[in-house]
Formats: sequence, structure tokens, C-alpha cells
Amino acid sequence: MHRNNPINFNVISLPTAESTNTYIKEHIDELSDNTVVIADMQTNGRGRLGNKWIADKGALSMSVLFRNIPSAQNMTVISAVAVCQALQMLYGITAGIKWTNDIICENKKVCGILCESSIKGYTADKEPDRYMICGIGLNVNQNGAFFKECGLLDGASLCSLYGGEYDKLEIGLYVLRRLAILQGMAFSEVIKIYRGLCVTLGKSVRLIQNNCEITAYAKDIDENGCLICENESGEFTVNSGVVRVRGMNGEYV
Ligand code: BTN
Repeated sequence: MHRNNPINFNVISLPTAESTNTYIKEHIDELSDNTVVIADMQTNGRGRLGNKWIADKGALSMSVLFRNIPSAQNMTVISAVAVCQALQMLYGITAGIKWTNDIICENKKVCGILCESSIKGYTADKEPDRYMICGIGLNVNQNGAFFKECGLLDGASLCSLYGGEYDKLEIGLYVLRRLAILQGMAFSEVIKIYRGLCVTLGKSVRLIQNNCEITAYAKDIDENGCLICENESGEFTVNSGVVRVRGMNGEYV
């Protein structure tokens, strides 16, 4: 992997993987900080909240391993911004972020991000090994029929929305470049960019957790990337975790 590989990322390119996040977990002891695993095809992709991530060879499936980063939550924000910037800078495609980190084009989800963090080897006399895996699944070259056949009514790809065929690897490497740049910036600056990209803000939303649903107005993003909402009970903050956000009519915002 030589094409424009941003400094410091060790890229492992696989023809197939069950899940690039799982691959990193299974090889965690052998992999160094900033290792990137890109699979041409994933056979058992995993999504947020225990969902499956359905994709074929048309998708970019990529996971990045970060060791001992100061905040896992920051990486969630940074990776969403990195994907939006890559699409804008490479192809002039305007993408937005549905809080927390779904990437939206034309009201359809084109990319999902699964960030998983863990602490290993915790003993009284040794600092634990903290790591975070940032898995990015971007729908690139699938056609419209793919999403219909899979029942992914909110899903779309760059190709199904804008036509043409895109170079998955070029996008992946550009996302890595943006990740590196954003990591070097003050997080407060990244949050400002995130706010500007977040399509959830300024909308009335339904917040769904387990069987409980409340409605609220999505007001702002706080300095940690949490969603600040307001309803008749007052203002409250929603942490990324397990809350699903939907527009009032079920739309993807
Ligand atoms: C979501 O929106 O539910 C998150 C989807 C994340 C999918 C990516 S594809 C690369 C990485 N490997 C996985 O198994 N999942 C993530």
C-alpha cells in the first residue's frame, strides 16, 4: 500500500474479512498504534447497537487502531468530520452528520462509524493499555438496487446518489489524511466544524432508548460532542451511547 499513505499509518489490506473491527480485536497484541485494516469485502460487518452492517464489495470497509488516545469520544467526533471533509475535498460532495456519527447525503445514510474502545492489562503497578478501534463503513459503488434488495430504505451510496464509480482506496487514504490533521487540531476547533456539519441541530427529534421514547428540540453540541436538547422538562444532555435519534416523521436526521 504505497499510494499517498499518510505518515504513521500502517495499512493492512485484506481481500476479505469478517469485520475489520473484529480483525483488529483478534490481532490486538500484534498491531501497533495507527494500524489501519482495509478489507475489500466484509462478510459479517458489525454496526452500532449490536446491528449488522450490510455491505458488499462496493463499500469501503476500514478500521483504524488508536492506542492510548486521551479521549475515545473525541475520536467519534473526529472520524465523522474526517469522512465529511474527504467527500467534500475529493469530489465536492456535501455530506452532513446525523448525531452522533452517521454520514448523510441527500437525507440518506452513506456511511456508518463504529467506535469501540477497551482497556487491557489493568494491574495495580502498571498503566493499562487503552485502545480504540474506529470502524468506518462508507457506501461507495453499490447501485440503488442493492439498498432495495437489502431493505436498507435509509441507505445509499455515492454511486446510487451521484452516479459514476469511485476509487474506494483513494477515499480511504484521504479519510486517514483528514484524521491525522484533525487529531493535530485543538478539539474545540473540531467541535466547531462538527456543529456546522450536524444535520440534527435545529430539528425536533425523537430520542429512543430501549422502549422509551421522548421528543425534544436538538439545540447544540457540547464541548465533548454530546447532544444538548430541550423539551417541556427543560434542557438536558444526551451522551452518544445507546440513544437512537429520529426526525418527527421517522426521517433520518
Ligand atoms: C453503524 O452505523 O451502525 C456503524 C457501521 C460501521 C460499519 C463499519 S465497516 C468497517 C468496520 N467493521 C465493522 O464490522 N463495522 C465497521
